[in-house]
Amino acid sequence: MDKIFVKGGEVLRGTVHISGAKNAALPTMAASLLTEDQIILRNLPQVRDIETTGKLLQEMGCEAELDQISKNHMCILRAKDPIACEAPYELVKTMRASVLVLGPLLARLGQANVSLPGGCAIGARPIDLHIEGLKKLGATISIEHGYVKARADQLIGSKVVFDQITVTGTENLMMAASLAKGETILLNAACEPEVINLANMLRSMGALIEGDGTKTIRINGVSNLNGADHTIIPDRIEAGTFMIAGAITGGEIELIGCQPCHLSTVINTMRQAGVIVEETERNSCIVRAPHEIQACNVITKEYPGFATDMQAQFMGLMTQAHGTSIITETVFESRFLHASEMIRMGANIKIEGNQATIFGKTSLTGANVIASDLRASASLVLAGLVATGETIIDRVYHLDRGYERIEHKLKTLGAKIIRGSK
Ligand code: EPZ
Repeated sequence: MDKIFVKGGEVLRGTVHISGAKNAALPTMAASLLTEDQIILRNLPQVRDIETTGKLLQEMGCEAELDQISKNHMCILRAKDPIACEAPYELVKTMRASVLVLGPLLARLGQANVSLPGGCAIGARPIDLHIEGLKKLGATISIEHGYVKARADQLIGSKVVFDQITVTGTENLMMAASLAKGETILLNAACEPEVINLANMLRSMGALIEGDGTKTIRINGVSNLNGADHTIIPDRIEAGTFMIAGAITGGEIELIGCQPCHLSTVINTMRQAGVIVEETERNSCIVRAPHEIQACNVITKEYPGFATDMQAQFMGLMTQAHGTSIITETVFESRFLHASEMIRMGANIKIEGNQATIFGKTSLTGANVIASDLRASASLVLAGLVATGETIIDRVYHLDRGYERIEHKLKTLGAKIIRGSK
């Protein structure tokens, strides 16, 4: 099992190219099930979750040229009949976002058998809101032997109110409603840029969608959808992660191919911490570390609030801030597992319920640490960059799910980082 070895103390300087967004790519790949026509996706990140989704689609009978992704970050998909209606446990258990095939399968085939994803390190991750929403569109859904079994001869547009904001729930319902009969209104919908990215792709396929990016999305169903050639938006969480890499090491990094407007709250918070973030043009920015990082408080929220996917990384930065900072996690119920690993490196962090209090500035020392989830593993790499000595991060398969060649990108910025097996 791969590990990552980081020797701390290097100041990171230079330019890094931001990859396409994993969380935007996943629903667009699932959307290929909504048509028999060819779908071309560009700017796909070469990460494990994309590969897993491609394999799942292939298992279901979809043509997917996955080898193109490593060559030019592009994939051609074509879901010609016949398409299987099952998403097996063996694949879904490795990536809960596989639930995104539920809506498209139901809309295309009138049936879907999708394994329940199960929880993960950051929480129970239920999909009850997805299921309740699809029932509102007329689906009959039962849970049998760990599978969601859904049936609907014809989905009928309806009003769906999400009790809680759900990103993939909004995406699943948007895709299902695109082929439903009549109008669907999604209330309390997610506003993330990844949702807008999916709506843009669906519109290019012929879907009638408006209001994406707001909490009320209207979809007028059509009888069929066509092919599309769609480019994935940049990964705002990868961009935020590299911004913190520059800030925590006292360096200066230029991010190329990012969209700072997708990270406004995170950027504003980093500016409060004293970090200089200069938006140079529409799709790049320069990050300069301050002489002293200032402590500041954060409450994670749905978009446009402070992204929960940036919480672990920001906690790493706050261990180097002067003063006490409080991070409140409101989206997931157990997303502080990285804190105990940072404490083993010398951080002074107190966890009480959904609040973490970080007493900075503390000197970190390298240690053997274990990654628990995707963003926690990124935060441990960031802590390793500033720790004295060597940090060895185990279970880096978590990292590979959502970061493309992170050790290569960090090395080009001057980090002493390698991947090895022991
Ligand atoms: C998406 O997950 C992202 N994943 C997550 O990124 C991200 O952390 C999350 O949105 C929040 O921004 C993808 O887009 C593939 P939710 P998702 O449904 O859609 C509860 C990463 O690191 N909920 O918005 O699964 C849920 O438990 C990953 O890249 C229900 O109760 O998250 C959570 O507390 C991690 N019932 C809250 O809502 C449901 O049916 C938000 O979850 C659905 C969700």
